[in-house]
Amino acid sequence: MKILHSLYGLIVLILFSLLLTGSLAVAAEETVCIQCHGGLDGHLGEPVAQWRTSVHAANGISCHDCHGGDPTDFEMAMSPERGFIGVPEYAGVPDFCGRCHVGVKEDYLASAHGQALEVGGPNCVTCHENHAIQLASIDLINENTCSMCHDYERAARVKNEISSTEASLTKLEASVAALHRVGIDTQRLKEELFASRNAFRRLFHTVNIEKIKSQTAQFDQDLSETKATISDYENRLGQRKLIGGVFVALLVLGGIVALLIRRTYQNKE
Ligand code: HEC
Ligand code: HEC
Ligand code: HEC
Ligand code: HEC
Ligand code: HEC
Repeated sequence: MKILHSLYGLIVLILFSLLLTGSLAVAAEETVCIQCHGGLDGHLGEPVAQWRTSVHAANGISCHDCHGGDPTDFEMAMSPERGFIGVPEYAGVPDFCGRCHVGVKEDYLASAHGQALEVGGPNCVTCHENHAIQLASIDLINENTCSMCHDYERAARVKNEISSTEASLTKLEASVAALHRVGIDTQRLKEELFASRNAFRRLFHTVNIEKIKSQTAQFDQDLSETKATISDYENRLGQRKLIGGVFVALLVLGGIVALLIRRTYQNKE
């Protein structure tokens, strides 16, 4: 009877801890927003699957970070009292996203696109989508998106201007990674490139071709210094390789000579 009693206690304990760890795991990522919307159909359920693929999901930005509300309370989740702000109007999107992307919002609002927001200009979602937002790149400048409202011609000019600097940034990043792999301290170079890349990526939202032209010229000049440092490293690395090569060759030669000398002695004996 006593054994049965403690067995019962054990089972309750196991069940209880399963429940506890289960609900803790849910609390960490599966908010009530995701649980409920994940089970809904159509336009109420789709955001969940789309969001899962996004750069926001990867960085822990969830439904309630954008829409507000209480992610821990099924009943009150979408109550305005708990900070739910719902879905923005078309012209409200830049403020909605700009709570976090402050610099981008500034550049955008000052641009021809931002100025035309109330009269047919694109908002953030037009170019980036709303839930399936991916890491940004110049591939976002494409015929599909950029010929919706005007001809593609001016978009292509912006893209051309940006691409060459983009390409040299990518190349420099690859060189720095290669230097890092052979044991050179690239921390400072990495930081420089990171800062350049960040400043450079802000440029697009101005969509001002003259501004982009003069700024890309400035970036190319800044990058040429970084480029010089990198090729300096690469040259020294080349020399090091050469010296190493010569050293190995001498060793091998020495070995052969020693072998020959030993042979001669052995033959004499
Ligand atoms: C118990 C289910 C349930 C939970 C929990 C829930 N939602 Fe909803 N949500 C709905 C339903 C049903 C609708 C559509 C009807 C409506 O707007 O009330 C909706 C609508 C929405 C809309 C569109 C509103 C509009 O004006 O078109 C957004 C955005 C939204 N939910 C976000 C959230 C967020 C963020 C959370 C968590 C903080 C959340 N939901 C939690 C069921 C839920
Ligand atoms: C990066 C910010 C962001 C995140 C994160 C986000 N949303 Fe949204 N959501 C938006 C925006 C912006 C809109 C308005 C859509 C538009 O303007 O096209 C929207 C619209 C909606 C709508 C209305 C769709 C319709 O067609 O009526 C629902 C429902 C919704 N979101 C639910 C969710 C749920 C659930 C999550 C979490 C899985 C989520 N959202 C995460 C930005 C976000
Ligand atoms: C006309 C299309 C368009 C609009 C409108 C637009 N973007 Fe972008 N966005 C882009 C493109 C293209 C890039 C990539 C630029 C690059 O890589 O050089 C980008 C890059 C970004 C980046 C990454 C660069 C960085 O500085 O961190 C963020 C974040 C971003 N956009 C957010 C927004 C937000 C928020 C809005 C609205 C206020 C917005 N975008 C409006 C096309 C657009
Ligand atoms: C609650 C804060 C928050 C809101 C609101 C928000 N984002 Fe983000 N967003 C982030 C964070 C954090 C990242 C990942 C880190 C980074 O790249 O800045 C990110 C990343 C991005 C990126 C990729 C940036 C890159 O480096 O390529 C884009 C594009 C973007 N967001 C667009 C948007 C758009 C469009 C909206 C509105 C629909 C929006 N975000 C709303 C916080 C937010
Ligand atoms: C939703 C409509 C819409 C979309 C989509 C759109 N644009 Fe625009 N664009 C405008 C409007 C409106 C203007 C300002 C009026 C004008 O010059 O026609 C403009 C102006 C421009 C200008 C001229 C800016 C200036 O200062 O003279 C450039 C460059 C440009 N867009 C590039 C792009 C690129 C690149 C894309 C795609 C990533 C894009 N646009 C997508 C509506 C749009």
